[in-house]
Amino acid sequence: MKVLILGGTGSIGTAVTQELIRRGHQVAGLSRSQASDERLAALGARPLRGDLRFPGDWSREISAMDGLIQLAATFDEDMGAADTAAITAILRQAALCPEPLRLIYTGGCWLYGATGPRVASESSPMRPIKPFAWMHRNAAKVLASPAVSAAVIHPAMVYHQEGGVFSRYLEAARQRMPFEIWGSIATRWPLVQRDDLARAYCLLLENPQLTGHFNASAQDGVQVSEITGEIARRHGHDGSYVVRSLKHALIKYGDWAEGPTLDQQMGSDKLRRLTGWQPQFTSFRDAQF
Ligand SMILES: NC(=O)c1ccc[n+]([C@@H]2O[C@H](COP(=O)([O-])OP(=O)(O)OC[C@H]3O[C@@H](n4cnc5c(N)ncnc54)[C@H](OP(=O)(O)O)[C@@H]3O)[C@@H](O)[C@H]2O)c1
Repeated sequence: MKVLILGGTGSIGTAVTQELIRRGHQVAGLSRSQASDERLAALGARPLRGDLRFPGDWSREISAMDGLIQLAATFDEDMGAADTAAITAILRQAALCPEPLRLIYTGGCWLYGATGPRVASESSPMRPIKPFAWMHRNAAKVLASPAVSAAVIHPAMVYHQEGGVFSRYLEAARQRMPFEIWGSIATRWPLVQRDDLARAYCLLLENPQLTGHFNASAQDGVQVSEITGEIARRHGHDGSYVVRSLKHALIKYGDWAEGPTLDQQMGSDKLRRLTGWQPQFTSFRDAQF
């Protein structure tokens, strides 16, 4: 397929771009710098200069595409506005095409809010944390549009060789500092390894008859204490930690810091059943990081 990826140089996007190329797709990647041009070219993708916030500059390319994957995020104050501008332009451009564009939109486990003892499935109510409420609205918008055949993928917390969501703890271990825990050490995170997630994106892309919401987690919920314990063991850290309140994390790091304090479990039975997705890393303990 001819595929445009937005965010193809990011933490998740790098692995998705790599997997798309490996599977023989022709990939163009939105890029806003020379460095990102080079990163995309090294992965085998064609860089397409443009900014998520100014889709008028690049959205016409959509008419030459079979599929589009949205994985770009500014992580600034304008994160929601930039995504909305891009989605509006994509849907407008796709409406001009003879066939519905295959669109994979990225949501996230934080859209389910805290689940506690329940395991969230795609039919669970969505209670997005405030800084990501726009993502829930844009997901609904793409699913309702006749111009696209859309799947919304909700990645669990994503880790990989360089760390991903484990990065803060790995850095603390390297510096022999206590782990800083936000909220509670008993908090559960759903987890997925990045390369496994990349395969889920590709399977959904390649099956345009599959529409709607799809969760992608390899482990429903792992306590933060298990993660820090494993990192301590691997890096000769004494396992000590300090607990910071939610209020402290929000003031110091911003609204998004509520995400890692959510006690969550999320299952991916639907994705496994309908696409045959089988994560290679069914325990984070088997992976490199
Ligand atoms: N990581 C997780 O654990 C996780 C879990 C669930 C959901 N998600 C969601 O997945 C998405 C991607 O997350 P990530 O962790 O991969 O993020 P990331 O590593 O920060 O990557 C963001 C990507 O967006 C691009 N970008 C940023 N601003 C842009 C702009 N103005 N115009 C064009 N491109 C721009 C970046 O390109 P440059 O190369 O130019 O910087 C980069 O490729 C986000 O929506 C996030 O909420 C992530």
